[in-house]
Amino acid sequence: MKHEELSLRARPALAALGRYHPGKKIPGTVKLSSNENPLGPSPRAMEAVQAAIAGLERYPDGSALTLREALAERFNVSPDEVLVGNGSDELMMLAAGAYVDPGMNAIVGAHTFSQYAFVTRVFGGEVRVAAMPDGCFNLEAMRQRVDAHTRLFFLCNPNNPTGRYITETDLVELMRMLPPHVLVVLDEAYADYAEARDFPDGTQLLDRFPNLLVLRTYSKIYGLAGLRLGYGFGHPEVIDALARVKQPFSVGNLAQTGGLAALHDEQFIQRSLETNRAGKKLMYAELQRIGYEFYPTEGNFICVQLQGPAELAFEVLHQHGVSVRTLGSFGLPHALRITIGTDEQNHMVVSGLEALRKRMG
Ligand SMILES: Cc1ncc(COP(=O)(O)O)c(C=O)c1O
Repeated sequence: MKHEELSLRARPALAALGRYHPGKKIPGTVKLSSNENPLGPSPRAMEAVQAAIAGLERYPDGSALTLREALAERFNVSPDEVLVGNGSDELMMLAAGAYVDPGMNAIVGAHTFSQYAFVTRVFGGEVRVAAMPDGCFNLEAMRQRVDAHTRLFFLCNPNNPTGRYITETDLVELMRMLPPHVLVVLDEAYADYAEARDFPDGTQLLDRFPNLLVLRTYSKIYGLAGLRLGYGFGHPEVIDALARVKQPFSVGNLAQTGGLAALHDEQFIQRSLETNRAGKKLMYAELQRIGYEFYPTEGNFICVQLQGPAELAFEVLHQHGVSVRTLGSFGLPHALRITIGTDEQNHMVVSGLEALRKRMG
């Protein structure tokens, strides 16, 4: 269709926005590019969602009270400290919508989840980036970028895509030192997989730090990325601020019902954890054997360093039946992020990486 020239002008802030590049799914390959659960969805959630289909003529409960109460009980907080969203992506957008105006800024790391910068820019905020040597957040460098106009301070623990983590001691020290006008958005999308002894549980810090917002998701260990359900914990006033910018029905009936059921699917969670643990062990051993450098990971993915172009690696792995994530958009052009899969999938990755090694000499 031929269009006439438009005299409508979108907000200037949009000029700074890039489109999100999701992990690719190439037909006929195993998708290990979006850190989804290789075991599929939680069986309990599937069952509950099927049963809930009969109620689809109704609007969902806009306050998601039953689910919020269950999450509150599980995490030992009160329901007014919980908000659920259409994925944790929505909760990030709400945080920016509640706290960022033009002239304000947010602090992010150089190699982390792109949505933090995106949501800040949507509301016209400035994004202040701190380097991440060795794939780790440099909390001191991030703190130095804070000023009177800083509203949000984004952390991802463990970090996507590097898999590295912030220790409990470092997180607590940071929280103590940050001025109270800065809201720390601690994204714990992969925390369910973390096993390091000094890995902090952000939900345990909420009563000490009112300027902490902890985000979690059903998209990873619960295997429900397609359902779109995330949840967050924070001070009741923070939760109220986010709820004010939220659309009333962004979390549908099926998501609420599925989320409630998945929360109690202990067997599936354990199986997911064991699969990840075994896969991680295999990948560490094989990557070392073949001669790749990689970051140790606390998530369900591994960040592998490459000698040559990531595009070639992507291509060779594709030929071995797997799609992985190149990391140019994360500022890491010489690395790949590979989701830890089932044993069979991990072996496909290994043979692809072996072939790549041979190609590169
Ligand atoms: C660090 C991080 N946070 C949040 C998300 C998105 O979660 P959700 O599917 O709940 O929006 C992802 C998805 O890949 C992620 O990697």
